[in-house]
Amino acid sequence: MPLTRGGTVRSHDGGDPAELPDTSVSMPSRAIPQTGFGLEGAYELISSELLLDGAARLNLATFVTTWMPSVANQLMSETAQKNMIDKDEYPQTAEIEARCVRMLGALWNAPDHEQATGCSTTGSSEAAMLAGMALKWRWRAHRREAGKATDRPNLVMGANVQVCWEKFCRYWDVEPRLVPLEGERYHLGAEEAVEHCDENTIGVVAIIGSTFDGSYEPVKEIAAALDRLEHERGLDVPLHIDGASGGFVAPFLQPELEWDFRIDRVQSINASGHKYGLVYPGVGWVVWRDPQALPKELVFDVNYLGGHMPTFALNFSRPGSQVIAQYLMLVGLGVQGYTEVLQHTQDVALQISSGIEKLGSYRLLTDGSQLPVFAFALAPEVENYTVFDVSDRLRQSGWLVPAYTFPANLQDLSVLRIVVRSGMTHDMAGFLLEHLAHHTEFLESLDAPFPAPRPEYRKMFAH
Ligand SMILES: Cc1ncc(COP(=O)(O)O)c(C=O)c1O
Repeated sequence: MPLTRGGTVRSHDGGDPAELPDTSVSMPSRAIPQTGFGLEGAYELISSELLLDGAARLNLATFVTTWMPSVANQLMSETAQKNMIDKDEYPQTAEIEARCVRMLGALWNAPDHEQATGCSTTGSSEAAMLAGMALKWRWRAHRREAGKATDRPNLVMGANVQVCWEKFCRYWDVEPRLVPLEGERYHLGAEEAVEHCDENTIGVVAIIGSTFDGSYEPVKEIAAALDRLEHERGLDVPLHIDGASGGFVAPFLQPELEWDFRIDRVQSINASGHKYGLVYPGVGWVVWRDPQALPKELVFDVNYLGGHMPTFALNFSRPGSQVIAQYLMLVGLGVQGYTEVLQHTQDVALQISSGIEKLGSYRLLTDGSQLPVFAFALAPEVENYTVFDVSDRLRQSGWLVPAYTFPANLQDLSVLRIVVRSGMTHDMAGFLLEHLAHHTEFLESLDAPFPAPRPEYRKMFAH
């Protein structure tokens, strides 16, 4: 192997050449280098540069899976070259995707899960686009049938929705009707949802596991209020459930809670396989309760083994390995395994939230007993520091705990949020609590307000 240019240098001492990274090079950042660094040299330099990223498992901001068992790594690297869209060349991968859809239809209690229609996506954001389009197309078809105007569709949801729903509205020309939060109501309420509906409402989105605090929105109450609306005013407004996180949590940890297709008004559900579905990023799912819930015009037929394979997606090529890894986790863990993993995750969340409450300087908004996710604010008597200072101090110990303000009408409420995922142990939780106690003690010792940075230095977490 030649001496690599600018990548690694080899020792010339006659023994086994030791490969050392060449520290004199700068990584190209604007144009492709004329002569490559050599793949091994580039590998060394890129992996060194990536050390600057935070440690994924200390990242308590993300909902996305940061640990999978080694067999999953093996299966994913063995299947990385499979293109999900090539149903013809990889019919078994397509079959595995269909099995996952049926399993999720059954998990979410679709009336006839063999009939449940759905697909994999790159994540809940793409799933939200597809579900939102189905709502818009259905609404438009009904309006056209009735000879009514179709130019002002709206979608009703809490102001706490994840940004993917605002994106959906902007990209597909739908008015976002964001229901403001009030007082101690940190998510969508049933009566408030109905008050925002009219004949142009394509649907209501209810979230199982709000991004802001991990709480579940009251799906059953929202559905009952929409039933009353239909009874009293003749408006039949479908309900979509954003189960990005909770779609893989509630069925295992709160099986009695009715939030899914057990409720007639629920027409579709999305979930992120790469969150509590326990797969590395990017896989999501969307399932409709029956084929009627998905307008036929949205589905494209691709040729599949001489037959037809319906597809509904925004993109074309994408890796098959995530879908295969989802199947691995579903059949490898089974209901019992998912329940155990999630129960452990929740136990860790409860350990951390109760430890934080005991510190005395914080007030819990949620405690992790719905999603293993909770948000906490400063106790009212704290004056000398903010949640942003706490977040900054925790970074010194390697922990990424985001601080942010709530949306309308609770913009004065600033919180920290902890997302506990599989891979977080009770021991790690103990260290986190020790570090938080230490930093809180420091901040409590201040005898004047901690100096606030100028706004351009204040990093705000974006959902
Ligand atoms: C409630 C909710 N919906 C949608 C999303 C978007 O999910 P994804 O990252 O899978 O696109 C998130 C992400 O955190 C979320 O919490």
